[in-house]
Parts: sequence; structure tokens; C-alpha cells
Amino acid sequence: MKIFRDIVEMQRWSMEQRISGATIGLVPTMGYLHKGHLSLIEEARVDCDLIIVSIFVNPTQFGPNEDYGKYPRDKEGDIEMCEKAGVAAVFIPDVDTMYSHDASVCVIENSLSQGLCGQSRPTHFGGVCTVVAKLFNIMQPNVAVFGQKDYQQVAVIRRMVQDLNFAVEIRVAPIVREHDGLAVSSRNMYLSNDERQQALSINSALNLAHESFFSGQDSAVEIKNLVIRQLHEHCMDVDYVEIINGFDLNPVETVQMGDVVVVAAFCGKTRLIDNCIL
Ligand code: PAF
Repeated sequence: MKIFRDIVEMQRWSMEQRISGATIGLVPTMGYLHKGHLSLIEEARVDCDLIIVSIFVNPTQFGPNEDYGKYPRDKEGDIEMCEKAGVAAVFIPDVDTMYSHDASVCVIENSLSQGLCGQSRPTHFGGVCTVVAKLFNIMQPNVAVFGQKDYQQVAVIRRMVQDLNFAVEIRVAPIVREHDGLAVSSRNMYLSNDERQQALSINSALNLAHESFFSGQDSAVEIKNLVIRQLHEHCMDVDYVEIINGFDLNPVETVQMGDVVVVAAFCGKTRLIDNCIL
């Protein structure tokens, strides 16, 4: 497995692979890899000849009071996991490599990124779009795979790809859950044992929403209240609960098949997100 830390070397290698006829699948990550990331790698493997995993904790997508400093990092473990998973190359730049001190261009999506996570994290999606655009330019993948857990992120990136004409196909892999239903996330490692139990209420609340909808309830307010009650009963601090149209991300009043229940809630200091496509 190749390990690149330099942009030009990474770019040159990717270009050579593309010229030789290989298809590249990119899995962009912030490292501290887990089975959720492995499922993205598996998705990329379906019809790409080579998989590149990028590992970069991107400072520009964290707000000033967020967890950039303490975000978990394990470069050695990540490299080992990628090697075992049959990844062709890993790109691990450092911050100064990715962002020159006088960088003055960024990519902002102005519509889909406004609500939901964008409300409480106003600079987040600008950081995500900018780094993903850079990664696409560096790796020139045919396919890039993202997780459904970050539902809004996928929608925003799809829009960026469409509006800026990136020649990359965006694929989405389903949410991977622990045996007890908690959505797998690098941030789960912040949770104490008690908080982890509390956090299970997110998945159980989503299950209640799902059951309620498929038992005939189509009022978004009623379903949202059910979800919020379940979260409050487990002392979760709700950031948002919304039922949205899966394409434009606008909140709906009457729920239909294909709409998405999206949740962001704090468990202690840890902000967790999850969703369920109805
Ligand atoms: O989903 C993530 O881990 C990050 O937002 C991404 C897409 C790797 C960009 O830093």
C-alpha cells in the first residue's frame, strides 16, 4: 500500500493510474477508522479498481468551540486497517500541506447547508465542501463514497458536484450500527458508559418514528413529538429533530415514504447525529 503525504505526489500517482485505465474509488475520512469506514471501502470496491482513503482531520469544518483539538486520532492504526482492507493508497497530509497560510478561496453551498446542522454549525459545510473539493482535485476519483449517517453532508456534496461539474460519482453507504443500535461514529469514544446507554435512545426514537409512520401516522408534528419525548426521557439535549424531504431537505408537514427523520442531540458534551429514511 502506498502512503502519500505530499499533494503533488498523490496527484501524480492518481493521474498515472487514471491514464493507465484504472478506476479510482475515494473514501474521504477524518481517520480513527471503524467498521463504518470499512463499509465505505467495501462500497468503493464494488466497481473500482483502486481504492484511496484520505485521512485528514479537517480544521476548517470545526467551529471555534468544537472538538477539533481532541478529535480522536490514530494514524498507525488507520494505516494498518487500510492495509488489511486492501486499500491501494492512503493520503495523510498535514494541515500546512492542505492549507497554505494565505489560502483565500473556499467553496460555500448556499442552500442545503443552511438548516439542520448548518444552523448550529454555521461554518461546518463550507469547511467540508472546501476540503472535499480539494480532495477531488488531488485524487481525481471516478467514485467517492460517503456514509448515510451524514445525510445533509451527502446532499450538500452532491449539490457541489452538480454545480461545479466535478466528474465524480457520489455513492452512499448505509448507516452501520453497533449490536445495540447505536450508529457507529468516531465520536462515540467520548461517551461514558452511562452516556452510551442514554445515546441508545436516538436509535430507539428513530425506530418509534418508523413504526408510527408505517402504522399510519403521517403528521410530521406528531412523529417529531414522539421522537423528542423519547430523547428527553433519556436526558438527551435535543439540537434538532426534523422530518425532511430527502432531496431538498425542507421540513415536511405531511410525511411520505422516502422522507427522512433526522436527529442531532447532545449526550453530555458529545453531539451525535443519526437518521432514518422512511
Ligand atoms: O465525513 C467526514 O468524515 C468528513 O466530513 C469528510 C467528508 C472526510 C471531510 O472532512
